[in-house]
Amino acid sequence: MSEAIVKESSTLVQVEDLVIKFPVRGKGEKKFITPVDRVSLEIKKGEVLALVGESGSGKTTIGRALVRLLTPTDGKIIVEGKAIDEYKGKALNEYRQTAQMIFQDPFGSLNPVKTIESHVKFPLKKHQGYKGEALDQKITDLLVQVGLTPVNEIRKKYPHELSGGQRQRLAIARALAVNPQFIVADEPTSMLDVSIRAGILQLMNDLKDDFGLSYLYITHDLASARYFGDRIMVLYGGRVMEIAESKELIKNPLNPYTKLLLAATPGSESQIDLTNMTNEPPDLTEGRQGCPFVHRCPLVTDLCKEKVPALEEVEDGHVVACHHYGSQALTF
Ligand SMILES: Nc1ncnc2c1ncn2[C@@H]1O[C@H](COP(=O)(O)OP(=O)(O)OP(=O)(O)O)[C@@H](O)[C@H]1O
Ligand SMILES: [Mg+2]
Repeated sequence: MSEAIVKESSTLVQVEDLVIKFPVRGKGEKKFITPVDRVSLEIKKGEVLALVGESGSGKTTIGRALVRLLTPTDGKIIVEGKAIDEYKGKALNEYRQTAQMIFQDPFGSLNPVKTIESHVKFPLKKHQGYKGEALDQKITDLLVQVGLTPVNEIRKKYPHELSGGQRQRLAIARALAVNPQFIVADEPTSMLDVSIRAGILQLMNDLKDDFGLSYLYITHDLASARYFGDRIMVLYGGRVMEIAESKELIKNPLNPYTKLLLAATPGSESQIDLTNMTNEPPDLTEGRQGCPFVHRCPLVTDLCKEKVPALEEVEDGHVVACHHYGSQALTF
């Protein structure tokens, strides 16, 4: 990645050449897929990096690796200057407080037999040492901060008595109860009614300032990535296709895949014709060659099929992996 977007002093998360492989079930020789293939990224303190890409592009897998819910096959994840794969035992538990994950389905991460209050009480007691009146006050403060009011009514309820939006607010409160620095929010609004999505994004945005948080915000939706993300990273077939400041990426997309994503966004003024586009998914097999987007790219050439395009900075802070740009640029 270029010097221009790497500012050592303010870096919180640095990922270098991350590779994640999964075994494929089947008879005979053991095979693997590589849904994350040499991904590098950077999240600065206080920054929201939006990670965009279609289903199966490896977004959740990257998010899970960053909070150490899974161990990468290769590559480095460095948080606050320390390689997180070296953490074990107590240090690993501590890291897991620092980095929290919020999931698409809040119900799945809540305990149906525990009250709202106990979801935040336990982590506040265990990890932050609150007790007595201070604990009670902190529970109230947290529930107010995430908009779960009136607190006295809500704290005695159970998750099934909340609306979808309220449940996601509770999942956020629980993540905050351990005082994290970094949150991976994996499509946190996609299961919610459209009318309440903006409220959850607004809340996450407010909390960013109040708690000094950084986010990896995973989404399919470029409009919300543009709203919440400081920068957007576009992923396809487990590889980074493009990274830029959010406004710049939407205004001036360079990678053909990003252009197509934008063209497919409702209300887009793009002139790109999507009618003949195949729906063929990217090849994730181990040892695949060339650009992952070759099956669908309108600009495909032999070079694209043979060689993976390197990520190159073509404008200040705007990085793209495409043979049609950068030092090996093709004319088209
Ligand atoms: N534990 C696992 N074992 C085997 N394959 C897996 C595992 N987790 C994910 N995969 C595969 O890895 C690929 C990437 O999955 P991932 O969930 O990261 O995609 P995603 O971009 O988050 O997709 P979506 O937008 O649908 O959530 C998919 O082909 C998926 O089937
Ligand atoms: Mg996912």
